[in-house]
Amino acid sequence: YRNLRVALLGGGSVGAQVARLLLEQKEELANRVGASLELVGILVRDVDAERTVDLPRELFTTDAESLILGADVVIELMGGLEPARSYILMAINSGADVVTANKALLATHGPELFAAADQVGAQLNYEAAVAGAIPIVRPLRDSLGGDQVNRILGIVNGTTNFILDRMDTDGDTLEEALRLATDLGYAEADPTADIGGYDAAQKAAILASLAFHTNVPLESVYREGITSVTPAQIESARKAGYVVKLLAICERLVDAATGREGVSARVYPAMVHRSHPLASVHGANNAVFVEAEAAGSLMFYGAGAGGVETASAVLGDLVSLARRHIAGGPGVAASSHADLPVFSIDSITTRY
Ligand code: NDP
Ligand code: HSE
Repeated sequence: YRNLRVALLGGGSVGAQVARLLLEQKEELANRVGASLELVGILVRDVDAERTVDLPRELFTTDAESLILGADVVIELMGGLEPARSYILMAINSGADVVTANKALLATHGPELFAAADQVGAQLNYEAAVAGAIPIVRPLRDSLGGDQVNRILGIVNGTTNFILDRMDTDGDTLEEALRLATDLGYAEADPTADIGGYDAAQKAAILASLAFHTNVPLESVYREGITSVTPAQIESARKAGYVVKLLAICERLVDAATGREGVSARVYPAMVHRSHPLASVHGANNAVFVEAEAAGSLMFYGAGAGGVETASAVLGDLVSLARRHIAGGPGVAASSHADLPVFSIDSITTRY
């Protein structure tokens, strides 16, 4: 096999799980991709910190430059704008491909980063930046790339959905539920990003840009968080047959006054009738409805936050670009190298 050197920037909730899966599934992934994915290091702030995931100590480093310049693929899972932006630019300019889950960075500096990648022919994948484990970026960009998307309606922040759900079903206060969401690894390093609706607004900007093939700047996304939602409001919504959800809504619109076509992206807590499918999105799950001209209505559902769940989307991005990185390597259709037996119906105990 060829060796692909993979550098991980960040070894927190998501990064540690990506590292664990890369090490545990090394052989399986090598067979699938046609290249050995060699984890060469994990950038952290403190190499001596106690870690909940058991990883080889020698992988941890604080030397960003050596790590980035010695890699074929750089996975950025630090969060924040700087130094994440500079490190990604350093990686792209050194000829590496990049995977990131950093929606704050993409919603703020996306055009600059995509232009830098385009200029040198590097790939920049970001499936995990929106809705955790749910495949939504590639479906919008690729699968629906020939259709016209008219509207997206979704729950795209796991932490606030978890909090509103706990307030509704367990009677938790916002503060109690947020503490729990933080302990479970759902919340951002600064959870104001979640409860203030900033994280959902960043995701709405990314989704709207992708869906409508335009640049939707973060500043133009209307944003309200959940900090002013009270237990009394949740209780009266329940009595009336509704549940409060933080929604992201992106749509194509025609301005009534001018007749001009445009788009809108907005995030705010809304009353959702309990009979609506979005009302049944519990815990840190997310759901995204997409209405497209030809495809009609599509719904994407699953874990919107969480270290290991998000690691799945990150690894998917890595496998996708590793396959293209390997000149002459197996394409997607030809990559069934695991040589698994195909069972006859008689050996299957559970039938669906
Ligand atoms: P964490 O805060 O858990 O981890 C951040 C990691 O980055 C830590 O290992 C930290 O080091 C390291 N780090 C941060 N700043 C620096 C720096 N300046 N220099 C070196 N290392 C640094 O974040 P998450 O894993 O939760 O999130 C990572 C990214 O993934 C974020 O962009 C987030 O928005 C995104 N994301 C997170 C999801 C989740 O469910 N948690 C889901 C989807 C996306 P140290 O350990 O030493 O502190
Ligand atoms: N803090 C984010 C959330 C992580 O709760 O949705 C996933 O992007």
